[in-house]
Amino acid sequence: MRRALVAANWKMHGNRVFVKELVSGIMPALSGGVNGVDIVICPPFPYLQMVDALISGGEVVLGAQDISTHECGAYTGEVSGSMLADFRVRYVIVGHSERRTIMAESDQVVVAKFEAAQRDSLVPVLCVGETLDERDQDMAEQVVSRQLAAIVDKCGVSVFNRAVVAYEPVWAIGTGRSASVQQAQDMHAAIRRLIALHDDEVAQSLQVIYGGSVSPENAPELFAQPDIDGGLIGGASLNADLFVRICKSVS
Ligand code: 13P
Repeated sequence: MRRALVAANWKMHGNRVFVKELVSGIMPALSGGVNGVDIVICPPFPYLQMVDALISGGEVVLGAQDISTHECGAYTGEVSGSMLADFRVRYVIVGHSERRTIMAESDQVVVAKFEAAQRDSLVPVLCVGETLDERDQDMAEQVVSRQLAAIVDKCGVSVFNRAVVAYEPVWAIGTGRSASVQQAQDMHAAIRRLIALHDDEVAQSLQVIYGGSVSPENAPELFAQPDIDGGLIGGASLNADLFVRICKSVS
């Protein structure tokens, strides 16, 4: 039986006052954990230490939104996996569509970040998903297959024993237009099938979470699908009440 995972991706939002209020709002409800659910908060880098202090002693764990492909050295502005681990970061988002498009990160860069995360014992949360154009052309599965194959071809399928996959259709991110429950379930099943082509056991134990306009209203039905193991939450994770309700809606 797979555990569920709900992760907050704050993206580039917040300041110290906001972060303190938000985490203080979340922790009374979540610090003791929610049965069967891994809960992760991914703040911007400058707030990692602050969030770490605010969540310490509880069940909620820390994630980061990005990682350098390099271990250390002259890479101005970069943050390495060992630095993240030093702040008790456990998960790191790689391949988010905002980085793939705005920062022009290629599949190869995403693979290197995935490897960098695992090198420092962090769990990569690999984001995959198609644009609206690609969906309209019936290419959703093909795109996700290419994004997964980039990892499998370079690293082998067993690396997915220590990873999470987040299906995030680009057209559903921050738009208020979530994928339908059926669309999401179909893609999650496809992702599991693609991994199962290489190793069924890895596929069956892999946490595949959904991201894209998740709300307390649509979360219960999405999370009840057989292949949807939780969510990667953007906008709604910036509101303590909404995020808590989403975490608790895992059945
Ligand atoms: P929204 O929940 O705001 O659509 O963002 C999803 C996302 O990109 C999480 O990584």
